[in-house]
Amino acid sequence: MIGEANPTIEIDDRVTENDSTYGDELSGYSASLTSSVLNFRKENGRTYHGYRDGAYLLPNDEDEAERLDMLHEMTLTIMDRKLFLAPIGDSPQRAIDLGTGTGIWAIDFAEQFPSAEVTGVDLSPIQPSMVPPNVKFLVDDIEADWVYNQPFDFVHARFLAASMKNYKRLIQQAYNNTVPGGWVEFHDWDAVLYSEDDSLKDTALQQYYDVVRNAFIGSGYELDPGPKLEGWFREVGFENIHVQKYVVPLGIWPKDEHLVETGFEASAMAVLTRYAGWSKDEVTVLVAKAMNDSRNPKIHSFYHFYAVYGQKPKPKGQENEN
Ligand SMILES: *[C@@H]1O[C@H](CO)[C@@H](O)[C@H](O)[C@H]1NC(C)=O
Ligand SMILES: *[C@@H]1O[C@H](CO)[C@@H](O)[C@H](O)[C@H]1NC(C)=O
Repeated sequence: MIGEANPTIEIDDRVTENDSTYGDELSGYSASLTSSVLNFRKENGRTYHGYRDGAYLLPNDEDEAERLDMLHEMTLTIMDRKLFLAPIGDSPQRAIDLGTGTGIWAIDFAEQFPSAEVTGVDLSPIQPSMVPPNVKFLVDDIEADWVYNQPFDFVHARFLAASMKNYKRLIQQAYNNTVPGGWVEFHDWDAVLYSEDDSLKDTALQQYYDVVRNAFIGSGYELDPGPKLEGWFREVGFENIHVQKYVVPLGIWPKDEHLVETGFEASAMAVLTRYAGWSKDEVTVLVAKAMNDSRNPKIHSFYHFYAVYGQKPKPKGQENEN
């Protein structure tokens, strides 16, 4: 699956002369775009997206796909098997999944709501080609300006911690591209590992988090969106905002050792080698120690995970209409 073009994936080839974020890629853009999308960066044993090379620092290979699908399952477990919490009704029409990854959420949503036309957007075309007829995938950078020709009635995003440089602007774009009365829902972390009994203190696990956090923050990524989502939703104009906070123990990681290891490695390898001067071997040692600590029953650590949704206001006088 990975590394092959998905024939159902569309590549967004819009670009304007004024869009400075496209930089040098502008010349010969259309011709080079197709190859850049599939020209994955191979580095330190992992594979990364090609389109807008360097924008996202986690891999897109088979190990990462497996980790993302595991994270989907974990999220369903903590959210009582719900894909979302917003009261969107029984017949959503247009939904978008931002940073869709393997597309697993978008596919599940499309199956649950045959009424909906579902678009999944990601920098990497790593979604399966056998998908329900009402879902399609698009290669695009969700931090670039959106140019969808119609607004959505449900916008969904999750796990964008460490991926966005300007997270609030993304929420503003979601607001701008939602129909009045439509819903937007984000699920995200604060990437802080907590313990209530000091058992994390001076562990390699704590060191791993400190080092990786500092490297992401230093290179300009928003790492702790979870607790900020509610404020951003309010500031851009959403109403009927609902916040659900979950406590997720680190021990919820899978039993599969390989998956645990590649998970620790996935977050750390690119940011530390590209931005913090670490060698591959140094990262590998840190990952091994952090993984060892994650198996230590004396260390009690957990994350916070937030599910936040809000509604775009309806025009005055239509508040009670559907
Ligand atoms: C959202 O829409 C407002 C009003 O049209 C506009 O001023 C703002 O620039 C837009 N923001 C984004 C991020 O698209
Ligand atoms: C692995 O964890 C154990 C405790 O669970 C600890 O005694 C040992 O020193 C750790 N090894 C490494 C390499 O961090």
